[in-house]
Amino acid sequence: GKAEVIDADGAIVAPGFVDLHTHLREPGREDEETIATASTGAAAGGYTAICAMPNTDPVCDTSSVAEKVWALGRETGLVDVRVAGALSRGLDGAVMADIGEMVRSAARVTMFTDDGHGVQDSLFARRTMEYLVAFDAIYAEHCEDAALAADGQMHEGDRSAELGLRGIPAEAEELMAARDIALARLTGCRLHLLHVSCARTVELVRRAKAEGARITAEAAPHHFTLTDAALETYDPLMKVNPPLRASEDVDAVTRGLADGTIDAIATDHAPHAVEEKDQEFSYAPPGMLGLETALALSFTQLVEPGHLGLSRLVELLSTNPARILGLDEQGSLEIGS
Ligand code: DOR
Repeated sequence: GKAEVIDADGAIVAPGFVDLHTHLREPGREDEETIATASTGAAAGGYTAICAMPNTDPVCDTSSVAEKVWALGRETGLVDVRVAGALSRGLDGAVMADIGEMVRSAARVTMFTDDGHGVQDSLFARRTMEYLVAFDAIYAEHCEDAALAADGQMHEGDRSAELGLRGIPAEAEELMAARDIALARLTGCRLHLLHVSCARTVELVRRAKAEGARITAEAAPHHFTLTDAALETYDPLMKVNPPLRASEDVDAVTRGLADGTIDAIATDHAPHAVEEKDQEFSYAPPGMLGLETALALSFTQLVEPGHLGLSRLVELLSTNPARILGLDEQGSLEIGS
């Protein structure tokens, strides 16, 4: 027949991966990354869809920015570039962004977040969730109580004390996750927890799911690969937010990925300019790369040691994130998809 035979020996054959959490840096910081370069990295990493975070300059808080990012993704044509809209105008956490307009735009935005910051004002979080319910859209949170996190540089614990770097306690994440789970219950809004990094957050998600909450969660490869021990050299490449945590947290995130508590692996791919990263630790911006290494790290950290099988890994990288974003044409291997 006419069938084309491809030798896939030693390769992983899977539906294209879907990244729920990518920082593309366009518009505003095209020196760091563009929609075209991020699309290239994504495709090289096995991704067929990525979701652009809104913390660009200008912030993606209107339909015009959302449509621009979406259109540039289509123009590049390598992967499906979806857009997450901001919850608040300019990520100020106070005035709602043009949510309805973004939902109805050509970009068809379904996920909203102020990622980079947690929403500090509980009443703003509640009102925004109530508004999102009307669109069945997702409220996605960067769980971090800013007052508790203060100007922390790394995970708070013995190691931060040893290194003399100000710590961010795990409780800064736990408290906001608990608040949001309560508010999602109150409002009926779909809740997605971004980059879950702590054991107690995993436990909160597990309990909320057992109670039937409409909640999903993601974890980033660096949070199941590295611990705060990686900070020993004060290498700013290891600076990321939420920070690299303790080994108990890494174990809990790993178990959460295996048992279905955490739904997706998302990269939080967050490129920065070399001259910005190459500074004294406390001046360097947080963020790690992820698109080209997510599969290899997941395979090495999760599949090879036997924490989970390849089919679960494909759920985490492809099927589940496609379902969360509502991308019918992604997340499966079928004729035409
Ligand atoms: O490490 C991070 N980098 N965490 C965030 O929440 C934001 C991101 C960025 O945009 O650089």
